[in-house]
Amino acid sequence: MTNADLEKIVETSDQWILERTGIRERRICDDSITCADMATEAARNAMAMANCAPEDVDMVIDATVTADYTLPSNGCLIQEKLGLVNAVGFDVVAACSGFINGLTISRGFIESGMYKKIVVVGSEKLSAFTNWNDRSTCVLFGDAAGAVVVEPSTNGSGILSTFMKSDGRMREWLWSKVGGTKHPHTPDFAWDGTDKIYMSGSDVFKVAVKEMGRACLKAIADAGVKPEDVSLVVPHQANMRIIESLIKRLNISPDKVMINIEKYGNTSSASVPLALDEANRSGRIKPGDLVLMVAFGGGMIWGSALVRW
Ligand code: UT7
Repeated sequence: MTNADLEKIVETSDQWILERTGIRERRICDDSITCADMATEAARNAMAMANCAPEDVDMVIDATVTADYTLPSNGCLIQEKLGLVNAVGFDVVAACSGFINGLTISRGFIESGMYKKIVVVGSEKLSAFTNWNDRSTCVLFGDAAGAVVVEPSTNGSGILSTFMKSDGRMREWLWSKVGGTKHPHTPDFAWDGTDKIYMSGSDVFKVAVKEMGRACLKAIADAGVKPEDVSLVVPHQANMRIIESLIKRLNISPDKVMINIEKYGNTSSASVPLALDEANRSGRIKPGDLVLMVAFGGGMIWGSALVRW
């Protein structure tokens, strides 16, 4: 869906969207494709790339706020679809930061020796959750999935540091009020968009810039490296201006930052693995490189992970 397509739906313009967000297009999946379908494809591709047999997978974690069902989890659906007969599957609900949280959980289980192969997915069908009457949000989001396989290493590669933080006091800046058990859909619910995504964009923007910068520095310090040692930053793709502020705060060269928001928009928990995959497939990441991932989302919740490729 292009910006021109959106001009036909709400009072907006290609110029506004591009200047304020950096987004030109986003992918919207049709009704026949579910969030778990996209997650399964991403997991299948990641497993093929990692030469990982279905029976060897111990755990599959799907980071998502748009799972197919309230229950069961997408994790269980992926497990069944891919025949991961020896695995446990579950979801992580941490909005745009979810992939970082999933990666951190996998790190704990791998480092403890409890599990050997963990598939971490970030998948979202945000189009089903978007208020298509609200121009301040509907121009931002897209559907996507991305995945990685995490396993023990012996050559110094792997997850060096991770950081997670949240602050529930800001929960109403990016939320969906109706549809849970506190405010369920009732027969007399007069549709007003409150069961879709609401965001106070400028409030979220300010905290995102500050906390993503801090999260990056924390992961770098915890790993005992210097900002200039980082080969590539893979940030959550929420807004081009947020990424530009991050570049200034970290004082890094823009060519060390992976940006693909132009094509996909904000895909929440899928955005970091999607950008990571594009960076990897296009040859931007070499063995031994330090890759810094960082994300921020509704909760508010944020986090970072530093990886030696
Ligand atoms: O992924 C989770 C984390 N999410 C984020 O980090 C997103 C953070 N926030 C943002 O990216 C930005 O705040 C937005 C892109 C959402 C909005 O950009 P902004 O520069 O903060 O715009 P604004 O909300 O302050 O609105 C400025 C003006 C308003 O008009 P007035 O009141 O100045 O007349 C809006 O009504 O732009 C108007 N506007 C639009 N105009 C055309 C808002 N959305 C649109 C639109 N097209 N789509």
